[in-house]
Amino acid sequence: PLVSMKEMLDVAKDNHYAVGQFNINNLEFTQAILQAAQEESSPVILGVSEGAAKYMGGFKTVVLMVKGLLEDYNITVPVAIHLDHGSSFETCAKAIHAGFTSVMIDGSHHPLEENIALTKKVVELAHFHGVSVEAELGRIGGQEDDLIVEDADAAYAIPSECKQLVEETGVDCFAPALGSVHGPYKGEPNLGFDRMEEIFNTTSLPLVLHGGTGIPTKDIQKAITLGTSKINVNTENQISSAKRVREVLAEKPNEYDPRKYLGPAREAIKETVIGKMREFGSSGKA
Ligand code: G3H
Ligand code: ZN
Repeated sequence: PLVSMKEMLDVAKDNHYAVGQFNINNLEFTQAILQAAQEESSPVILGVSEGAAKYMGGFKTVVLMVKGLLEDYNITVPVAIHLDHGSSFETCAKAIHAGFTSVMIDGSHHPLEENIALTKKVVELAHFHGVSVEAELGRIGGQEDDLIVEDADAAYAIPSECKQLVEETGVDCFAPALGSVHGPYKGEPNLGFDRMEEIFNTTSLPLVLHGGTGIPTKDIQKAITLGTSKINVNTENQISSAKRVREVLAEKPNEYDPRKYLGPAREAIKETVIGKMREFGSSGKA
């Protein structure tokens, strides 16, 4: 069923595993992720960036596509449709009214007080509709769609500010920027585990780790131990599906039926997602 993230993340936090947010870009991504979740008996979060929503037609199209697949595939595991890095109150409101069950308001580029005021406004509307909210503090580096943060502007979240934001806004989960990066890492990731622990201890909210692509398993496990209950993965699925398309088209240069190369791409995404669900410990938890 379609649900908010609230309960799935609270349960994950209490049972020391993380639910994956896998970003969707089109029908095949959505199919693959839902199939993986059902096969693995795992709760799942479908991440939708503003750019990806626009690409697919709009928020309404996304919601109806997901609802259609939940029925056609007889999906019984909990599924959330989550706006990823929502950039304004208006965009969050649009997603909520279109039927999204969860939103992220990314006010991380604003000064603290403005981030808090904006996040609070989103929480009021969202909770009225039974929709969960994720907020961010600090700045996650790298690039995701139109969201580009230069290395020099990437910043680690400050624990006292995190406590203040969480207490004043009433968000359901929280993404402190702690050195993770959107897209491939240049070298080994350097995650701020001490701060992660401190932030979890002071907020006791489920924490979110963005930039899940390319983080070594030992760091994933450590993050989960320190309160991370949601891990976002996008680039890794994009890489695995693009690789499969290249292979198929290289092998069969005369192929033109999209089902013949997007079908295998869908399989590649599904395999990648299943691997993550096992790594995050969410398999068998639905
Ligand atoms: O918000 C989405 C994620 O943080 C995805 O990051 O593309 O590096 O896996 P990634
Ligand atoms: Zn992100």
